[in-house]
Amino acid sequence: MPIFQKTSQPDHSVDFANLPRHVAIIMDGNGRWAKKRGLPRTAGHAAGAETFRTIATYCKEIGLDYLTVYAFSTENWKRPQDEVNAIMGLLKKYLLESIEKMERDRVKMAFFGDLSPLTPELRALCQRTQEISKNYEGCQVNICLNYGGRDEITRAVRGIAADWLKEGRDPASITEQDITSRLFSAGVPDPDLIIRPSGEIRTSNFLLWQSAYSEYYFTDVLWPDFTKEELIKAIGAFQKRSRRFGGV
Ligand code: FPP
Repeated sequence: MPIFQKTSQPDHSVDFANLPRHVAIIMDGNGRWAKKRGLPRTAGHAAGAETFRTIATYCKEIGLDYLTVYAFSTENWKRPQDEVNAIMGLLKKYLLESIEKMERDRVKMAFFGDLSPLTPELRALCQRTQEISKNYEGCQVNICLNYGGRDEITRAVRGIAADWLKEGRDPASITEQDITSRLFSAGVPDPDLIIRPSGEIRTSNFLLWQSAYSEYYFTDVLWPDFTKEELIKAIGAFQKRSRRFGGV
């Protein structure tokens, strides 16, 4: 049995009163989407950013508590400079628009990742959107930016080591909660459902700690082609799963 199975037979029936609290998405397939159309990869990212807007708005509409998206990983710096610049440019555009519409949309935004290598301008935009929206209620959108699951855990472990050393504490007293509370996602419940479009079946360093009991949903649809209906299919499939968290 493969560990992760692609979902066949999607089910469209969704119980909107019983949605997952937290959905996370690996927005994959932008490059292939562009290639299929003879366009530069950056055009795929632009289309992917539009899809993100649509899906984030829809998540708020249907009443999801949290949406987390993987926008740029700690490994994505290896991409050609023009592609990195294009993704950063799209983020800037999105954040500027978000600030403009913030009072109307009231979407709470947060960022997971080490923002220090970003340009001061982009970093300031991230801080501003987070600050303005911090008291908004309803859906919280977390954008993973320069994010890596291993990097996140390494930082948490370093923080614990420093605190324990300073306070002369016994390493045996370290708890899972000590790690959880030092992650970028501190205070946010673990994702119930993680969606990966584009046909790739791997986690790619996304929410490694938080995904211990997440349900995965894989689809061949490329991210720019992902629609509200695809999200509903994923949620429908999720609702058919039996979650036992290691129990029976
Ligand atoms: C993965 O597809 C996608 C990325 C590394 C970038 C995702 C960025 C966006 C959707 C745009 C900016 C985001 C926001 C939140 C406004 P890929 O390039 O690896 O695709 P491929 O596997 O087909 O090459």
